Amino acid sequence: MTDVLTSIDELCAYPTRTRGLVMTMGALHEGHLSLIDLARQQVGADGQVLVSIFVNPLQFGAGEDFSRYPRTWDADLAACRDRGVDAVFAPAASDILGGDGDMAVTVDPGPLAALYEGAARPGHFRGVLTIVLKVLNLIRPQYAVFGEKDYQQLVLIRRMVRDLDVPVTVVPGPVVREPDGLAMSSRNVYLDGADRSRALALHRGLLAGAALADQGAPQAAITDAVERELGDDDIVADYVALTGPDLELVPTAGDGRLLVAASVGGVRLLDNCGVRT
Ligand code: PAF
Repeated sequence: MTDVLTSIDELCAYPTRTRGLVMTMGALHEGHLSLIDLARQQVGADGQVLVSIFVNPLQFGAGEDFSRYPRTWDADLAACRDRGVDAVFAPAASDILGGDGDMAVTVDPGPLAALYEGAARPGHFRGVLTIVLKVLNLIRPQYAVFGEKDYQQLVLIRRMVRDLDVPVTVVPGPVVREPDGLAMSSRNVYLDGADRSRALALHRGLLAGAALADQGAPQAAITDAVERELGDDDIVADYVALTGPDLELVPTAGDGRLLVAASVGGVRLLDNCGVRT
């Protein structure tokens, strides 16, 4: 049985056991479901897995896709039931943001939020971290699982938890891919047939870059290889970056992260993978 909690009052009245949280904006896909499974692994059969579903207006810029963001409540709830989620927290915007949605105090995401996604979407990470902190404060989970697909978001959430001493363990979930390699994303539904095929260039680029990294190629050769794969499909990268695991600008020897973002047919796509540096 999956309980549905549609207000903060209902959430506060809900019994508490060891909690694992998966925060989402709905439009659940296999990537989210893998995070739900990870949350269950953390809390065990006696613990509680909660999924929050809230399309957060604070993290969308003017002219972005807030109003057309896919909203698939019935399918989301059915998927949560199938996966043994204990409760779905789906508050109304007025409940979670206050009547007028006017928040005077928000989370400053720091300098890392000016790079990559933050450069393309000013204010995005302030909106993300503000809602993530609010939902963590409301649900008070012991574990919160976030996907590596939005890698910069994951790093910033970890940093917020560390810098503000938020009492939660952040658990990362690996990127889940379609059989042809496309990273799963709720926004993939925006891709039409031809653009859906072109979008595969992002994953091909990452594979090419990771293979070069394995051979000890220099940083520029690795990022060039990604850009070349995109270029073959007439895609111009918004950014390709090889960083450290916490998005350090200069990767240290060992683990690195290769990130790519590009717009394909007007749809902003992100992908990344771990590489040896
Ligand atoms: O990754 C997402 O879906 C959102 O950014 C999150 C973490 C649910 C915050 O709204």
